[in-house]
Amino acid sequence: MPRRATRAIHNPFPAPDRAIAFPIYQTAAFAAPDSDGFAQINDYGSEAFFYTRYDNPTLRNVETKLAALEHAEAALTFASGMTAITTTLMGLLRAGDTIAASRTLYGGTVTFLRDYAPRYGIHVKLLDEADLYEVEKHVPQAKAVYFETPTNPRCDCLSIRKVVAAAKRIGALVVKDNTFASPINQNPLDLGVDLVLHSATKYLGGHSDLTAGAVMGSRERLAGLFGARKVFGGILSPNDAFLLDRSLKTLELRMQQHNRSAQALAEHFAHHPKVQAVYYPGLPSTPGHAVAAEQMTGFGGMMCIALADLQAARTLCDGLKIGMNVAHLGSAETLVSIPVLTSHSMLSADELAGAGLSAGMVRISVGLEDTDDLIADFDQALSRL
Ligand SMILES: Cc1ncc(COP(=O)(O)O)c(C=O)c1O
Repeated sequence: MPRRATRAIHNPFPAPDRAIAFPIYQTAAFAAPDSDGFAQINDYGSEAFFYTRYDNPTLRNVETKLAALEHAEAALTFASGMTAITTTLMGLLRAGDTIAASRTLYGGTVTFLRDYAPRYGIHVKLLDEADLYEVEKHVPQAKAVYFETPTNPRCDCLSIRKVVAAAKRIGALVVKDNTFASPINQNPLDLGVDLVLHSATKYLGGHSDLTAGAVMGSRERLAGLFGARKVFGGILSPNDAFLLDRSLKTLELRMQQHNRSAQALAEHFAHHPKVQAVYYPGLPSTPGHAVAAEQMTGFGGMMCIALADLQAARTLCDGLKIGMNVAHLGSAETLVSIPVLTSHSMLSADELAGAGLSAGMVRISVGLEDTDDLIADFDQALSRL
């Protein structure tokens, strides 16, 4: 079996006319040869295509590559990371079910779990890391356990092995958002997770020119979610699927540079007098380092630094000349953001404290620029504090 870099480049299906780039099937529907040709219209993975909200060849091409990257049997793509998350959870759970989730999650996911899931009768219990490792004691009725690692934005690293072991003790399904790591640095399905989610808008897309989401897992589990994707309707567009396919060809190469540059920058910040704390899984001084070393094959391009206060965070973000102040991550450009003003602005003071977030924190998505240029840029901006 070819390795992942090879599988991310070569199309799993032959493209018409031996095209190298798999074409965009820019069509809303497909004609059947005759009325009997609709026999498979509701089947997951049917040979024929019928309607793009159900399935489309450009999507199936990229989904096959995404599945290979996460060591999964199959993948489904969505119009955004949030659509992948909400469709997966709504597809798995029903009124009366309980989901146990980590407190340290992307703000949009927290909002869905806090404000929307309960409207549909789904009970949500948010747990600290230690309680998640003993979910059987705290939420024995949980049907699903949901978490991220490294977490957004502080890059805390939770033990996948411990979460999976606890969930299995009560027969709960384990769903994990792997956006921050990317499939190059961490493969949760290998550690017993049932379903992996990605905001493909981030590293998988990598160029800030598409919005997409994906879920990966066994073919059997995805068959159920295929039905949910059809009715909720949040499928990826063929245009964005094409761009995502283009991006996957360089994913491994890009992640290697993200990993290298982030490690260098984190080590630099660790000795900087204006930086009070650095949260980067590759730094031995970061609490989650040992866990990260056990379950990650690379430490990623994301980090968080703590400065004195919100004003210091603003001065840094507004003073960068290369780094850009953007509520986004995983791009070729270095992007910084202040979580309390952006990704986590919808959290209450108590929720922020529960997730260990303070106003002086800056999330950094280290891009693909020259590493020394980035260090010089952060140094000149930090010198303004
Ligand atoms: C960890 C994580 N998961 C999910 C999402 C949602 O993804 P999207 O913006 O593609 O809907 C984000 C967005 O920032 C994220 O950071």
